[in-house]
Amino acid sequence: MAEIWTPESWRSKPIQQVPEYPDIARLNAAEETLRNFPPLVFAGEARRLKAHLAEAAEGNAFVLQGGDCAESFAEFHPNKIRDTFRVMLQMAVVLTFGAALPVVKVGRMAGQFAKPRSAPTETINGVELPSYRGDMINGMDFTAEARAADPERLVRVYNQSAATLNLLRAFAQGGYADLHKVHQWNLDFVAGSSGARYADLCARLDEALSFMEACGLTSDTAPQIRETDFFTSHEALILQYEQALTRIDSTTGDWYDCSAHMLWIGDRTRQPDGAHVEFLRGVGNPVGCKAGPTTSPDDLLRLIDTLNPANEAGRLTIITRMGADKVEEKLPALLRAVKAEGRKVVWLCDPMHANTVKMGDYKTRSFDAILAEVKAFFAVHRAEGTPAGGVHFEMTGQDVTECVGGAQAIDADSLGDRYVTHCDPRLNATQSLELAFLIAETLKDERLAARKAARAR
Ligand code: PEP
Ligand code: CO
Repeated sequence: MAEIWTPESWRSKPIQQVPEYPDIARLNAAEETLRNFPPLVFAGEARRLKAHLAEAAEGNAFVLQGGDCAESFAEFHPNKIRDTFRVMLQMAVVLTFGAALPVVKVGRMAGQFAKPRSAPTETINGVELPSYRGDMINGMDFTAEARAADPERLVRVYNQSAATLNLLRAFAQGGYADLHKVHQWNLDFVAGSSGARYADLCARLDEALSFMEACGLTSDTAPQIRETDFFTSHEALILQYEQALTRIDSTTGDWYDCSAHMLWIGDRTRQPDGAHVEFLRGVGNPVGCKAGPTTSPDDLLRLIDTLNPANEAGRLTIITRMGADKVEEKLPALLRAVKAEGRKVVWLCDPMHANTVKMGDYKTRSFDAILAEVKAFFAVHRAEGTPAGGVHFEMTGQDVTECVGGAQAIDADSLGDRYVTHCDPRLNATQSLELAFLIAETLKDERLAARKAARAR
């Protein structure tokens, strides 16, 4: 029998990755401030995302989740929000063509400010200070002042998230995402063959839109052409922030975490008896859980029991991040166990977090390793007869040089040119689009193979 859940029941559980706040009175005051602020999202929107994810759990939709590893105060600018939104739209069009499936767009945006760290402190030249845990907690500068956890940052995160979400909603529904604008979404610097392929795809889309217009389907008559759904998500790491934004939905009487549409649990905080699992088990949002190479089938089934006891499709997304060299070894057992128990989950591939390497002074990831993990993820799903539900990327619409490889052939020497991430290395716009084309090819092959198999039956 599960214990009673309340928005604060996490507080009596063991917790990992928590900052130490030196001034508890200021922390309480920040939480009180947040409790009085309006919700950032509505429960009905979270349920809408859950319904889309339920389609992905059945293989009838494809999920694209992406954005910064960590949002930051310094990088806050409307153009950055627009560029990430825009490249996700481009990728979604490419993937929709390949898969002939709706693409569910979920940003790692408007709340993704807190980072789990491998060590609680960092030592430089004999000086030991708390690690940087993301702008939600402390500052990056290596000084005692900057590294002290400051609760005022929770309020600043809320404000920046509100402004970000407002712009995302305007872009999604105000005409920017109209399919007639696909040409204009192209970014000037998209290099290599992806730019040309994208232009070619736009021409085909134009033809399809003209045909539909002749049939009476226009931006005015079909809202699906004029606007899109764009959802937000982040890792629910700082539970004081999440609890303060958790509200009762007046239409259902259920609790929802109104800081984002979807929240996930990181690979370092997925202990079945821990605070993060306890918190997310009680909210009505769709939730995600990372599964790294140390996740056993039993661990995963236990997490699924706790996070989705009613076995509701769309409620739970498992985001696997095994590493290109381990995915073929580790993933099949998880898929088999979940399938054998009849559990409904969405399977996403995060090909970023287990493929991080050090190159000189930089943390980087190679485009080839990222692509290899995605390809292996699809192949394993095909072999096991489970739907590959989508992908989860750390990416930006900016022309950064943080991951090596891809059409621009970024290498160890050019990493320093525009390396600006606040945490992990992200795919840039060109690399993101290139990856979308390669995944679209795989999806198209799957679709054709499935059709052939159906005809043969
Ligand atoms: C992340 O998604 O930024 C992250 C820290 O991932 P993981 O928990 O999988 O390591
Ligand atoms: Co990351």
